[in-house]
Amino acid sequence: MSIKIVRIHPHFVGEVSGVDLSTPISDDERTIIEDGINEHGVLVFRDQNITDEQQAGFSQLFGALEVPDLKTNITKDEDRRLGRFMADISNLDRGDHILDAGSRQRMFNLGNRFWHSDSSYRAVPAKLSLLSARVVPRIGGETQFADMCAAYDALDENTKKEIEGLICEHSLLYSRGRLGFGDFTDEEKANFKPVLQTLVRVHPGNGRRSLFLSAHAGKIEGWPTPVARVLLEELTEFATRTEFVYTHRWRPFDLVMWDNRRTMHRARRFDDTVEVRDMRRTTVAGEAPTVM
Ligand code: OGA
Ligand code: MN
Repeated sequence: MSIKIVRIHPHFVGEVSGVDLSTPISDDERTIIEDGINEHGVLVFRDQNITDEQQAGFSQLFGALEVPDLKTNITKDEDRRLGRFMADISNLDRGDHILDAGSRQRMFNLGNRFWHSDSSYRAVPAKLSLLSARVVPRIGGETQFADMCAAYDALDENTKKEIEGLICEHSLLYSRGRLGFGDFTDEEKANFKPVLQTLVRVHPGNGRRSLFLSAHAGKIEGWPTPVARVLLEELTEFATRTEFVYTHRWRPFDLVMWDNRRTMHRARRFDDTVEVRDMRRTTVAGEAPTVM
């Protein structure tokens, strides 16, 4: 059994076979996977029945892991359902019960339904995310990915010139604002102070330019906010056209690894007050800010 990657979309996304992530992988396999992420942007691994520890162990072969933010009503480590390095992308509470329809946690989780790049609100945005499906709903709950390199390449030359060198402000305050949350405490305002990210970035692994967009982006430096919002909206609409999008239909024990430096993603709707969706994410931290 040797590792193989097959492209499954015209622009990006590779499906990986011949590797078992529940056992340690070789240096060669690691290199093939890292090269694969640089080439394809998203890698799909099927039938990987792994523990949280195995997921974290595999993830950290690609860099240091982020410790997920404590959000909303989860304010203490003891409140976490999962271990310290696992981002809980489920609709479950600590007792493994489906979240109440009116719970704050459910409301905040809805933020994942907007196109975004993970941790773009951090000064050093995420490199990779790895999402493992443990329980999936019968209907809906897909994850969509959009290729920001292919989208950039397809822009007209005029737009490319116009956006080169622009710097955006990203903050959870902007993405939460889209959900209708507006009454932030001073502490939240301080915690989620906007960070700067270039709108066009160059991928260190393949040299290609991409659009660095995200639901967290709310301003462009030196621009009036409405003018910035309209441009960001227009670019997002362009970059998420069907031709640039891959829709992942989850099976239990799929693991999908994506490059946040190249892609945006979003969750799709499902009956989240009735069906269980238990997904767990590890995140490999980026190496440097995008603005020097
Ligand atoms: C994430 C995320 C989307 C989904 O894990 O970062 O945005 O489909 N997930 O759950
Ligand atoms: Mn995400």
